[in-house]
Amino acid sequence: MQKLIIQGGKPLHGEINISGAKNAALPVLCATLLTTDTLCIKNVPLLQDVTTMLSLLEQMGAEIITNNRSEVAEVELTVSNLVNPVVPYEMVKTMRAAILLLGPLLARTGEATISLPGGCAIGLRPVDQHIKGLQAMGAEISIKHGYIHAVAKQLRGARIVMDIVTVTGTENLMMAASLAKGTTILENAAREPEIIDLANCLIAMGAKISGAGSDVITIEGVKALHGTQHTVMPDRIETGTFLVAGVAAGGDVCLKNTFPHLLDAVLAKVQEAGADLETGDNWIRLKMNGRPKAINLRTAPYPAFPTDMQAQFMSMNCVATGTAVISETIFENRFMHVQELKRMSANIEVEGHTAIVYGIPELDGANVMATDLRASASLVIAGLVAQGETIIDRIYHLDRGYERIEEKLSEVGAQIRRGS
Ligand code: UD1
Repeated sequence: MQKLIIQGGKPLHGEINISGAKNAALPVLCATLLTTDTLCIKNVPLLQDVTTMLSLLEQMGAEIITNNRSEVAEVELTVSNLVNPVVPYEMVKTMRAAILLLGPLLARTGEATISLPGGCAIGLRPVDQHIKGLQAMGAEISIKHGYIHAVAKQLRGARIVMDIVTVTGTENLMMAASLAKGTTILENAAREPEIIDLANCLIAMGAKISGAGSDVITIEGVKALHGTQHTVMPDRIETGTFLVAGVAAGGDVCLKNTFPHLLDAVLAKVQEAGADLETGDNWIRLKMNGRPKAINLRTAPYPAFPTDMQAQFMSMNCVATGTAVISETIFENRFMHVQELKRMSANIEVEGHTAIVYGIPELDGANVMATDLRASASLVIAGLVAQGETIIDRIYHLDRGYERIEEKLSEVGAQIRRGS
């Protein structure tokens, strides 16, 4: 099994190119199912989750042309003949975002069979809001043998008040509603930038959507959607991860091809920790000297502080001056990195949904294990600042969501390599 081997203690200097956003690319890939025409998607990140989604789409009859020769990958997908509207357990188990196929499949074929995601490492993560929304649009849904089976000859518009703010739930319903008969109003919708990115792609395909990015989204169903070209937005979580790496390890890094305005909550925390920031339209430069200051944070839906950045800030707080209180309000089991950070001598106490991190001058390199995607990123940051060698096992979690992380970090001076 592959590992990452890091020699800590090196500051970071140089430029990093930010990839397209995983959480925007995945729903946009699913939107391919909504048309028989070709969708050309640019700035696709080369990640395991994207590969998994492409092979799922291929099994359903998608013709896929990829062009990885340029720095920025491009994918052309055409699903002129959808053959197999089934998403098996093996796929959903490794990538929960496969649930995003439910809405498009149902809208396109009138039928979908998709495995329930089941227990996921970072929490229960039910999909009741996806199901409730599709039922309101007229779908008949049954759950048997661990599979959701949905049927709807013609979805119809509905007013749906979501009980909980859910990102993929909002995206699923927005895609389904695009081809429904009549108007759908999604209330208490998620406001993440990735939802705007998907809405922009759907609008370019001929959908009538307004309000994406606010908590009320209106979708006027149309008879058919057509092909288009779409460029995936930059990954704000990858950007944030490298920023925190810079704060923890120190140095001077410039992140290119990213949008600072998508990271307000994260940038404020990075500055509070003591970093100097300069920003342009599509770049962020960070300079950091000395130990960071401890910073408190509380995760919440966008535009508040993202749960996907909580673990990385925890690693930074481990070596900060002072004590930090971190509250996780989105997922119930998202502190699995704590045990691993403690193996590196971190001083952390967990009480329910709150972690208290007592900063210490240095972490010790150790053998640690990645447990989920963002927890893995936090261990990379811890390895960068630890004394001696850190070996991170089970990095397939990291490969699901970060493109060439070890290469990007090596280019700015980190001593990090892949081994087995
Ligand atoms: C998306 C992101 C993930 C991020 C998360 C929260 C993608 C592919 N993934 O995941 O990186 O960590 O948003 O920002 O975009 N919930 C329910 N019922 C539902 C749906 C969700 O109770 O039907 C709960 C979940 O258990 C969780 C909370 O709502 O506690 C938020 O989950 P949700 O926004 O749906 O996360 P994902 O869309 O799976």
